[in-house]
Amino acid sequence: MIILDTQKDYKKHINLLKSQGEIISLVPTMGNLHDGHLSLVKIAKKKSSKVITTIFINPLQFGKDEDFTSYPRTMSQDVDKLQKLNCDILFAPKSKNEVFNKIDNLKNLKAGPKGNILCGKIRPGHFDGVLKVIYMLFQLTEPDLSVFGVKDFQQLYLIKQMAKIYFPKLKIISAPTIRNKNGLALSSRNSYLDKTSMEIAPVFYKILLDGINYLKNSNNVEETVNYITTNLEKNSFLVNYVSFLNAELEKIKLNTSDKKILLSSVKLEQTRLIDNVEFS
Ligand code: PAF
Repeated sequence: MIILDTQKDYKKHINLLKSQGEIISLVPTMGNLHDGHLSLVKIAKKKSSKVITTIFINPLQFGKDEDFTSYPRTMSQDVDKLQKLNCDILFAPKSKNEVFNKIDNLKNLKAGPKGNILCGKIRPGHFDGVLKVIYMLFQLTEPDLSVFGVKDFQQLYLIKQMAKIYFPKLKIISAPTIRNKNGLALSSRNSYLDKTSMEIAPVFYKILLDGINYLKNSNNVEETVNYITTNLEKNSFLVNYVSFLNAELEKIKLNTSDKKILLSSVKLEQTRLIDNVEFS
């Protein structure tokens, strides 16, 4: 695996791959790689001839009281994991300037109204920051495809919308959520959970699944949201939101075969967990 940390070297390698006619896939991450990230790399491997993973903890997507400085940094373990999967290139920019050299051009890149609901409501500006880094990585890499996890459903939706406008030839692949054996969705932030919270955390997903059954019987969204919220609170979760939306992040219509998603974010002690479940 070739490891690069400057934009200049990265661009040089990208140009070489392009001149060789390689099909390039991009897997952007913030590192602290777990099996969820590795599943994205595996999907990328199957669908392209060269896989590039990026590791960059993007300061623009963290609020001022958030965990930018404490976000887990595990570069040498991450490199080992990527090497085992035969990832071709790791781009791990050594500074912000190796990504955002043209930040002025990005001022107008905003996630818009759908970036201000759900997680965007509790993390103002978060999705603007995500779109800015992804826009830069797409522009630098010009990949044929890029893989993102469905676990961050709103992020995936907003990246797809942005890519449609600015990178119309790029294919965005959605990868299924990877869970531990108890059902907890894998996330780098799970490493913040202590032993007791680790035992409680899987209940989050169970309550969401139970909520979908409740909706099927009650046929009443508001009542179901209250039911789920009460259940989460009873189990020590502080609820940020519980929301039933369609694939366009709009209000669902019941009694249709449309794809519906139950999305939720909670806090357990100081740790924010997000999860979602699709159903029809
Ligand atoms: O999901 C993440 O890890 C990050 O938000 C992403 C997409 C790598 C952008 O920094």
